[in-house]
Amino acid sequence: MQTIRKLLVVGAGAMGSQIAVLGALGGLEVQLQDVRPEGLDAAQLQLTKRLGRMVEKGTLSQDEFDATFDRLRFTTDLAAAADGADLVIEAIVEKLEAKVDLFAQLSPLVRKDTIFATNSSSIVGSLIGDKTDRPQLFCNMHFFNPPLVMDCVEVVGGPTVDADTIDLVRRVCVQMNRTPIVLEKEIPGFIANRILNALFREAIALHEGGYASIDAIDDICRRALRHPMGPFELLDMAGIDVNLQMQDSFFNQSGDPADRPQDVIRQLVAENRLGQKTGKGFYAYEDGKKSGVAS
Ligand code: 3HC
Repeated sequence: MQTIRKLLVVGAGAMGSQIAVLGALGGLEVQLQDVRPEGLDAAQLQLTKRLGRMVEKGTLSQDEFDATFDRLRFTTDLAAAADGADLVIEAIVEKLEAKVDLFAQLSPLVRKDTIFATNSSSIVGSLIGDKTDRPQLFCNMHFFNPPLVMDCVEVVGGPTVDADTIDLVRRVCVQMNRTPIVLEKEIPGFIANRILNALFREAIALHEGGYASIDAIDDICRRALRHPMGPFELLDMAGIDVNLQMQDSFFNQSGDPADRPQDVIRQLVAENRLGQKTGKGFYAYEDGKKSGVAS
């Protein structure tokens, strides 16, 4: 295959929906599939708002807006969505078995040369790809939240992946107006999330050690280090549940006790304090705006 024209994105959450629209903005024919119709409705609403705002600001013309949504289909039907796909990007729950199951379902629905990619935030592609019928065509395409804003995509191939696969994936990232950065070899969490996780661990340890409050730590990271958000704000934006799944996945892959998720992360998830999406995490939110450190 020389170029990617048809993209299937599976999973219409915050990541999958924006990855899909990046594809459509880049001129690809895109199917966004999710088993939850309400997830697709929410994605369509959010994307319409986000791109509508770009039209208001003059960074997207009305014609480009219309053409983008003409190229983007929302569906619950996996078989129909997979038909003719050149590339599939999976953006479902961060659980190895769920991802392996999905690609097993997809294999008979697509061509033999269709490329498979996972947007996993932590799982090395070979753990999934080696269980498919096409390990040479399988890689990680790791986007960052929010994909419409964050420019980078970590592209990672395991030992069995063809150089041509990485090359095509690199080129499709450029078509989606993102910058691909190709890693030399696999490691759970890749580069950015390993560095971020070290930051989160230290921020939590400093707070629990009584050295500074949650908002003071965030403030210091913003003002002293010029981070756009502090670590606790970022955990709330990304989702505490997403962080827990990611850390569980690190631990499952490494077996290193130092990779075990922190108690506070488990506790917040048990209390459904998942961050911005449930209105409470480390901070409380009113109408989507931070109102202060949560009690
Ligand atoms: N989706 C799409 N666009 C968004 C957005 C979202 N969820 N949130 C904000 N934006 C856009 C806004 O529309 C605005 O665009 P405009 O300038 O064209 O109007 C722009 O971003 C700036 O937004 P705001 O003025 O509302 O707010 P900020 O200036 O504070 O920016 C932010 C918000 C872009 C989220 C910024 O705080 C930021 O860059 N934060 C760090 C994000 C980060 O580190 N991401 C990586 C997380 S790790 C990860 O993703 C790994 C994965 O595996 C989970």
